Amino acid sequence: MTTVIREFQDGDVDAVVALWLAAGVSRPWNDPARDIAFARRDPHSTILVIEREAAIVATVMVGEDGHRGWVYYVAVDPQLRDLGLGRAIMEAAERWLSARGVWKVQLLVREENGATRHFYEHLGYRDTRTICLQKVIGEATG
Ligand SMILES: CC(C)(COP(=O)(O)OP(=O)(O)OC[C@H]1O[C@@H](n2cnc3c(N)ncnc32)[C@H](O)[C@@H]1OP(=O)(O)O)[C@@H](O)C(=O)NCCC(=O)NCCS
Repeated sequence: MTTVIREFQDGDVDAVVALWLAAGVSRPWNDPARDIAFARRDPHSTILVIEREAAIVATVMVGEDGHRGWVYYVAVDPQLRDLGLGRAIMEAAERWLSARGVWKVQLLVREENGATRHFYEHLGYRDTRTICLQKVIGEATG
């Protein structure tokens, strides 16, 4: 079985959006195609995928903001959970950040997503005891 970790390519949009919908990581108020284009617009962020037998089976959106690394859209094909793909894509994101000199990575988990929180804690992520405040400051573009 051929498994490759690689950067997102132009032809991946439909497969990645389908995976995000199946995995439940795409929120109704976010346009996934726009989010993909926005993450790929400059070298500070990208999307990494795991491709297995010509199918995209895991993703992570990863980037740095000049201070910290961030990951979003961590998703594994629901048919292929508990096989190490989640760990593999997170480690790929950490390597991507380390290669750019970033030494801390953080992420957001919805309070109701307890299982995923435990997955991240198992990988070494710790609660920073902070809250996330957000404000919409413009129209979504991209
Ligand atoms: C969370 C998710 C990415 C995990 O992917 P996965 O491929 O099933 O995870 P892995 O098989 O790579 O597990 C890696 C390790 O975490 C552990 N783990 C997995 N789920 C766990 C959980 N809910 N609680 C504790 N540990 C967990 C595994 O036992 C494994 O341990 P090991 O490597 O020491 O043997 C996957 O379930 C998913 O796509 N969930 C839906 C989308 C989602 O919620 N994304 C995150 C949005 S914030």
